Order: sequence, then structure tokens, then C-alpha cells
Amino acid sequence: MSSIQKAADTRGLAGQTIGDTKVCSVNQTQLIYRGYEIADLAANATFEEVSFLLLEGHKPSTDELARFEAELRDMREPHPEVIKVIHGLARSAPNAHPMNVLRTGISLASHHDPDCEDNSAEAELRKSKRLLASIPAMIGAHQRGLEGKDPVSADPSMSHAANLLWCLSGETPGEIATKVMDVSLILYAEHDFNASTFTGRVIASTNSDLHSAVCGAVGALKGNLHGGANEAAMDMLRDIMDDTTQDSDLTVGAWMTRAFEEKRKLMGFGHRVYKNGDHRAGILRDWGLRYANEENASAKKWFDLGDEVQQIMFEQKNIHPNVDFPCGMTYYSMGIPVPQYTPIFVASRITGWCAHIMEQHANNRIIRPLAEYTGPELSNWND
Ligand code: CMC
Repeated sequence: MSSIQKAADTRGLAGQTIGDTKVCSVNQTQLIYRGYEIADLAANATFEEVSFLLLEGHKPSTDELARFEAELRDMREPHPEVIKVIHGLARSAPNAHPMNVLRTGISLASHHDPDCEDNSAEAELRKSKRLLASIPAMIGAHQRGLEGKDPVSADPSMSHAANLLWCLSGETPGEIATKVMDVSLILYAEHDFNASTFTGRVIASTNSDLHSAVCGAVGALKGNLHGGANEAAMDMLRDIMDDTTQDSDLTVGAWMTRAFEEKRKLMGFGHRVYKNGDHRAGILRDWGLRYANEENASAKKWFDLGDEVQQIMFEQKNIHPNVDFPCGMTYYSMGIPVPQYTPIFVASRITGWCAHIMEQHANNRIIRPLAEYTGPELSNWND
């Protein structure tokens, strides 16, 4: 095998273990956060409990959880300048992608964080909690600006998930909406060395600060091969629905065959690790469908279409949906604007990112791998 073929086999670092972590374990059959399996957490824990587990390193006692929840509730309002800039961007740059606006908000927040340049474990935990608590208000300020409305103040009486929905819509969410959002935040919270977390760890490994590492991670999550897939999956379903409605001869199967012929990737399908299915996808689909059944019957059509697409994809390609596929349908049923799906992913994954950044700083060596050179042979400049 030539050296070029060898390099092609490992593109994207596929199949390579490049470090160790105590935060999370991912394999073909399980996703485990610090010793707890994801289905167990989704069924029995709250997002606040999972956040404590990831950030503080163990399951919280009743007292620890009460203290943690109170801390988060007190930290929900970002610095006023952050809200002012984000809200203003909705008017001055209405086409700016919400992920870029959120990245700006997090970067701005760093300038007002008294611990910004302190990479000690204690300071990093404080910064992590401030970001976790305040990101929902940043997302909400931008969305409400896009709708020509004033931001609402974060609500300290609500759970984290309910406050996120409140900041987005200015309406008190119902019980089932809050539960579905809470479960989705748990499912999205952590996933070992995925692209955005790895980006964050690389930045942290240079002794850079937590906010810089998180800004880099937001940039990595935005792409549609990673977190951006939840928006892209819903856009794809809407395209299929529109195209097959407008042309009654076009079946869903024919739409997909055309996409395969054009070598297009179907968004929300496939995974680097889970070749036999993503355990998170079924959990979120069931909660999303339950929401539609109880609160928005007209949205059930998206789950019917999703099931059909899923079945054809399996029959023709043997490829399963990942968590981003049901996420699109679920958030759409809940009336959440599509461009905010990936920012909501940030509102959750901030916990995993910060846990990894702290772990990197606690036992740091700069991440600096090698590349195999495949360019021109050595020449003399004067020849
Ligand atoms: N649609 C069509 N074909 C696909 C898809 C897809 N979604 N995913 C994989 N394949 C094909 C791929 O083209 C390749 O075919 P061939 O051997 O003919 O070249 C084969 O399946 C194997 O692909 P792979 O090596 O398993 O893919 P990968 O590990 O390099 O990439 C992936 C993984 C998730 C980027 C890819 O499956 C993809 O682009 N999916 C669509 C985007 C997506 O849903 N991303 C979300 C990822 S999971 C959660 C998250 O991070 O947010």
C-alpha cells in the first residue's frame, strides 16, 4: 500500500484513539456519561443533574444539587452589553447565522468575566457555570430581536429547560414541552472526542482560556456534518414534503433515489461511531412524537414522513438516523425556529465542552500531531 493510500484510509482520524478521558465513553452499543448510561439518564435524571455530573465529576447529593441549581438561577442574566449587542445584531445584520451571533455573545461575555484569564480549576468551574446559565438568554435575545420584539428577562423560578423556552418565546412553556426540551438537552450534553469537543481541547491545550476554547467549539459545531445537521435534517424533510406534495407522481423513495444518484448526503443519517444506530435517536423520536400527539396533532405528519425516510434509508443503504434526525422534527413540532436548533445544541453541549476543557487543563500537554507530507519534492529556489 502506498503512503498516499495509507493517508486516505485515516482521513478524518477515523478509528484512531487520540487520548483518554474520564468524562464519557462511546462505543457501538453504549453512550455513558461518567459511568451512567444515556437511556438511564434520559429516563431518570434532569438536565441540571446531568450538568452537575459532567462539570463537577460525580452524581450530586440532594444538597449539592440544590446549591448548583440556585447558583445557575442567579447567573442567568448575561452582562447587559452582551444582550444589547446580540439584540442589536438581529436588526443590523438580520442574515447573520444564529450560531455566529451566539459565538459573538460568548466572546463578548469573556471580556466581562472576571475569571477570563484564570485557568485554575476553581475559576474554570465558575466560568463554565456562568456560560451554562446565561446561554439561553443569549439565544432568546437574538431570536426575539429577529421577531422585532424586546428580550425577556431570564426567569429564576423556572428549570433550565423551561427558562430556555421562555427566553425564546416569551411564553411560559407547558409541562410536556419542558420535559421534551430537558430530555433533548440531556441527550446532546456530551459525546467524547467529537469534532467540536476536540477543537475545544486543542485550543485549551495551548494554555488558552475557556471562553476561547468554547468559541472555537461553537464554530466546529455549526457545520452540517456535526451539530448543524439538526437544522439541515428538518430543511431536508421540508423539501421532501414540498416536492412530493407539488408533484403527486414523485414518491418519497424516488426523491431519495435521486438524492443518492446525485451523491448527496441525507442529513441526520450516519455516524462515525454508531454503525448500527444512535441510541439517542429512538429516545428523542419517542418524546417528540409524544409531544406531537399531545400538543400539536398536525405535526404528526413529520414523524410519519421521518419514519418512511428512515425505513427507505435502512433498506437501500443500511444507514441509521442519528440524534439530529428526530431533533429536527421534535423542535419543529414545538414551534422552535429552525435556525435556533444548533444554538440550542450549544446550550446543552456547553457542559461537555467545559468538562473536557477542564480535564485538558488539569493534565495538559499541547496537542500537536504530525502530518504525512504529500507535496512536491525538494527543489532549489534558484533552479
Ligand atoms: N447519506 C448518504 N450516504 C451516507 C451518509 C448519509 N447521511 N452517511 C454516510 N454515508 C455513506 C458515505 O458516503 C460512505 O459511502 P461510500 O463508502 O460509498 O463513500 C459510507 O456511507 C460510509 O460513510 P462513513 O465513513 O460512515 O462516514 P463518516 O464517518 O466519514 O461520516 C457523518 C460520518 C456523520 C459525517 C456522515 O454520516 C454524514 O455526513 N452524515 C450526514 C450529516 C449528519 O447527520 N451529521 C450528524 C452527525 S451525528 C451528531 C452530531 O454530531 O451532531
